[in-house]
Amino acid sequence: MVKTRVIETNEGIQNEVTVKTFDLFARSMRDKGWNGVDGMIASGIKGGDVLEVGPGPGYVGLELSKKIRPSSLTGCEISPAMLHIAEKNAAEYSIPAHYVLGNCMEMPFEDKSFDAVISNGSLHEWENPIRAFDEIYRVLRTGGRYCITDLRRDVHPLKKALVYLSTQPKEMRPGLITSLNAAYTISEITELLRHSNLRNATVTSDFFGLCIAGQK
Ligand SMILES: C[S@@+](CC[C@H](N)C(=O)[O-])C[C@H]1O[C@@H](n2cnc3c(N)ncnc32)[C@H](O)[C@@H]1O
Repeated sequence: MVKTRVIETNEGIQNEVTVKTFDLFARSMRDKGWNGVDGMIASGIKGGDVLEVGPGPGYVGLELSKKIRPSSLTGCEISPAMLHIAEKNAAEYSIPAHYVLGNCMEMPFEDKSFDAVISNGSLHEWENPIRAFDEIYRVLRTGGRYCITDLRRDVHPLKKALVYLSTQPKEMRPGLITSLNAAYTISEITELLRHSNLRNATVTSDFFGLCIAGQK
């Protein structure tokens, strides 16, 4: 029996100390290759103008850019503290990414601005996922692809324990549990998608998460 979902935050990660710790965590996930980038490429994300929703410190979009060399990389991030770290990290990668402060439920972009939209680990923080899915559809060009990956709450308890113990720095471990408790199950996300413009998406599960992918 999967426990009821518990909301973690509706305003992203704003606390400076948490943001710095999160940067270390995301860096360690990158170094382990556990950031969903290969899955995004396998789902059909290729060059063009790429938007990353909730980039946090930016490693997912930056690693993807290293591999697929898009025409441009833009990030839409609700937390100013995260945005500053993403800008610093993009400079370290020598990638001219452009990070914009904004809420994915009302994105500051024209219709049909992007060829691809990606997001990792952010969906469980979105106050209204249906609205965010509709926004992703709106800013995509016709034929554009999306790939949204996140944790899933219906993960086996043994896997949860394994990932908990391998999470570094240790200070991130309680946050991992609150994020898991806020994450969706496959059936919940399938139902939400059915009420959005991403209703034709394919939803798959992997070791620890879920992946929503499709084409406009
Ligand atoms: C858990 S972090 C994941 C960061 C990064 N994508 C990664 O995989 O390492 C979630 C990020 O989504 C951002 N976020 C949460 N809600 C958002 C929203 N409504 N609009 C834009 N960004 C949001 C948070 O501020 C945070 O930076």
